[in-house]
Amino acid sequence: MATLSRIVELCLLLPSLCHIAVAVSQGDLANYKIASFSYEDPHSNPNAKFNHFTIDQESGDVYVGAVNRLFRLNSSFDHEKNITTYNNTDRPDRDSNYNKILIIYPPLGLITCDSENNGQCQLRNLIDLSVIMSTVYPVTSIAEKASVATIGPGRNQKDYLYVGATFDQSDRRNIPLISRRRLKYGSGFLAASSEYDIVFGRRYLADTIINYIKVFSFRGFTYFVSFHLASKLSRVCQDGANLDSYTEITLQCSGSDGSVTAWCKQLTLDQQDLI
Ligand SMILES: *[C@@H]1O[C@H](CO)[C@@H](O)[C@H](O)[C@H]1NC(C)=O
Ligand SMILES: *[C@@H]1O[C@H](CO)[C@@H](O)[C@H](O)[C@H]1NC(C)=O
Ligand SMILES: *[C@@H]1O[C@H](CO)[C@@H](O)[C@H](O)[C@H]1NC(C)=O
Repeated sequence: MATLSRIVELCLLLPSLCHIAVAVSQGDLANYKIASFSYEDPHSNPNAKFNHFTIDQESGDVYVGAVNRLFRLNSSFDHEKNITTYNNTDRPDRDSNYNKILIIYPPLGLITCDSENNGQCQLRNLIDLSVIMSTVYPVTSIAEKASVATIGPGRNQKDYLYVGATFDQSDRRNIPLISRRRLKYGSGFLAASSEYDIVFGRRYLADTIINYIKVFSFRGFTYFVSFHLASKLSRVCQDGANLDSYTEITLQCSGSDGSVTAWCKQLTLDQQDLI
């Protein structure tokens, strides 16, 4: 049975002291075991917090991406390794490096993308978290706004990283909003070809800010959930030679009291349907 995991608590207890609790269970909710973990940012950064976590299905290890730091915990939630992602050599005015993408691709290792380092990504060793290689091209926008990513098949039956990058107005670079990137070891790691693997570049959309909330792979398509004035569900066909198959629909979500809202806060996928 697959391991289910869910963050049940994510809060700031004290300035610069973060606390995370994750419930991990196999089966009923009643069997969930609560474990917790705290961390004090050595830079006493008031923005310190946890951004993402992911679980290695093989080892059960839990990876946590926080502001300025990455952690590996074992499946009992005990600390195994941590490493700083803080490097303000190029931008002394910045003191927060947000983790924007944290995803395990078993054939290669742990992929992390930051708000700093020009929005580039790193391939890291799953054990000691050290950097094996970095991307040449930016993948995510700088600053705090969320990016979403998932791994799915692409053309030529190769695996790709699909990314939805929320643009940040402080970023003047041409970061594609939706792209797929090659999961290839060596030069070209996480590269997107502008002709084939990008739906639209940031300049195309002028000052529109599309917030990407979720991405998932489902029956031959990669779906992106986003919000800009209204919630939208868009998708691209995975086996196409390019992403020209892009389509989108507007979503409306209704609450239990019958109210209808344009902003869908949660979206879940079960075996058959989108909820
Ligand atoms: C991070 O690792 C260092 C050793 O490399 C250790 O001293 C420190 O306690 C670790 N931090 C946490 C929060 O476990
Ligand atoms: C996790 O690490 C702790 C402390 O080193 C250890 O007691 C525990 O058995 C480990 N859990 C697993 C599942 O390896
Ligand atoms: C920090 O960034 C600078 C400039 O990009 C780089 O030369 C240096 O190696 C980095 N330091 C570490 C510890 O990664």
